[in-house]
Amino acid sequence: NWTMAAYREKAIEKIRAEVGTDKVICGLSGGVDSSVAAVLIHEAIGDQLTCIFVDHGLLRLNEAEDVVAMFRQQYNIPLVHVDASDKFIGALEGESDPEVKRKTIGRLFIETFEEEAKKIGGAEFLAQGTLYPDVIESVSFTGGPSVTIKSHHNVGGLPERMNMKLVEPLRELFKDEVRALGRELGLPEHFVGRHPFPGPGLAIRCPGGLTRDKLDILRKADAIYLDEIRKAGLYDTIWQAFAVLLPVQTVGVMGDGRTYEFVCALRAVTSVDGMTADFYPYDMAFLGKTATRIINEVRGINRVVYDVTSKPPGTIEWE
Ligand code: XMP
Repeated sequence: NWTMAAYREKAIEKIRAEVGTDKVICGLSGGVDSSVAAVLIHEAIGDQLTCIFVDHGLLRLNEAEDVVAMFRQQYNIPLVHVDASDKFIGALEGESDPEVKRKTIGRLFIETFEEEAKKIGGAEFLAQGTLYPDVIESVSFTGGPSVTIKSHHNVGGLPERMNMKLVEPLRELFKDEVRALGRELGLPEHFVGRHPFPGPGLAIRCPGGLTRDKLDILRKADAIYLDEIRKAGLYDTIWQAFAVLLPVQTVGVMGDGRTYEFVCALRAVTSVDGMTADFYPYDMAFLGKTATRIINEVRGINRVVYDVTSKPPGTIEWE
């Protein structure tokens, strides 16, 4: 892709001119945006860059391990991996208010990031994988200009109080362009093509009181769901798909026993930029098969439902 090759060169020159010989730290979320930003910046300034990956314990199955391995082994990018899951999950335990969850995660993220940044010391610049839609959405959102629908948190949420200059090499790009840039930088296809994932992670896919057990149940159901989507060849057609663990228990029957377990909702949407979205029209055979696997393989779930709400009026995430 010639456009992206040119973009890459220009972006690298711009980063070098901006940063000079200073040190840069970059927060990694495990997602595509921050990873592409980090690889691009590393290409521009090498080991003047240090990445900090605050692992909040709210990622999908194996996600943290995959990202750490990719950065350390494939790219040799200096990376600090902070396992902060006890801190995050401890603070969120029992919390059911979506905005409190979002704000708690945002606050803990900043605290943890700051602590680590201090340990590294001497960095003038903070790198962020902010995209063009992030720039727009932080101004106006689905509900109109003055209504906050959701307090967004991602690694781009660090406040001015960190008192650092910003490097945001993806600010002009849309998601599909970031993916193209990622490919241009040699990131593996399965990584670059990954569905978007929200900064607050699985915490906002567990409505009602959050517990470690619920997160574990959700993580397993989500992995099975995504596995079925990949096997059916639907992953790239769907813009985003995930499981939600509902705070509702229902009665079921398994063998000759009664069960009383949680309901799992499946979500899948098509979209261009996440601002509007349509629910994905699966065929019933796919849904039936996936539901059977989830109920058979995940202890704690005995019923599966499919969300047929588009955005608007629904949002993509449930919280
Ligand atoms: P909603 O649920 O608002 O989501 O329709 C639109 C897109 O944004 C993602 N999302 C987030 N991403 N931090 C993020 O980095 C957040 O706090 C956040 N909340 C939602 C969501 O997954 C979807 O792709």
